[in-house]
Amino acid sequence: MQTVSTLEMLRKSLAGLREQGATIGLVPTMGALHEGHLTLIREAKSACDHVIASIFVNPTQFGPNEDLDAYPRQLAEDSAMLEGEGVSLLWAPTVEAMYPDGFATSISVTGVSEGFCGADRPGHFDGVATVVCKLFNQVMPDKAFFGEKDYQQLAVIRTMARDLGLTAPHVSNIIGVPTVREADGLAMSSRNRYLSPEQREAAATLPRAMREAIARIEDGADVTRTLAALEDELLGEGFDRVDYADLADARSLARLTELGDSTGRLLVAARIGGTRLIDNMAVGKN
Ligand code: PAJ
Repeated sequence: MQTVSTLEMLRKSLAGLREQGATIGLVPTMGALHEGHLTLIREAKSACDHVIASIFVNPTQFGPNEDLDAYPRQLAEDSAMLEGEGVSLLWAPTVEAMYPDGFATSISVTGVSEGFCGADRPGHFDGVATVVCKLFNQVMPDKAFFGEKDYQQLAVIRTMARDLGLTAPHVSNIIGVPTVREADGLAMSSRNRYLSPEQREAAATLPRAMREAIARIEDGADVTRTLAALEDELLGEGFDRVDYADLADARSLARLTELGDSTGRLLVAARIGGTRLIDNMAVGKN
């Protein structure tokens, strides 16, 4: 596996990989890799001749009071894991390579980026859309792989790619990969390592309580009351705050107050101490 950190090196390496029409799958990450990330890599590997992973802790998607400085950075460990998975190329740009002096462009997706995490984290999805657009332009992959763990992010990226013409055959097919979970159901996340052992135990309430709420909604229980009970349960089990717990249409992300025949998605963000956890699951016919 080659590791490159400048655009010039990236271009040279890409030209080599593309010889004889080989296909390229891109897996963008911020590092601190876990099985969730590695599952994306394996999906990419089974669908493409070469996998390119990127590691870049993108400053523009962190708010002023968020964990940019504390975000775990472990390039040596990550790169050993990627090498073990058969990744061809690691793109690990510096902040200066991604955001040269005077950088003045931002990509903003309206609609799907507005509620949920977009409401709680102003500017977050502009940062994500801008950096992912850059990665697509730099690598021009045939396919790009993202986790359903960040369901709203996936919707924002799909919309951005369609609107800007970054989809196949010009740039990329966007593939969503189901969330990978720990044995007790907690969605894997680089941020889980911030949790103390007690907080980690409480965190497992989140997927459990979500599954129960979904079963009730699918049985015809009142959506608003079920979601209020879900919030109460999380607060009772050790969460300090629930940013949102909402039922949405799985495609448009419009809020639903009843499921009806819709393909739904339950989306939750909740905090334990300073750690914000997100999760989402399918509801109804999917
Ligand atoms: P990061 O949080 O490192 O996640 C990289 C990719 O891994 C994302 O597509 C995310 O959805 C996926 N992922 C994380 N945890 C997962 C899990 N438990 N199961 C399945 N997939 C999982 O998301 C980002 O980085 C950034 O916003 C990025 C897209 C790289 C732009 O900076």
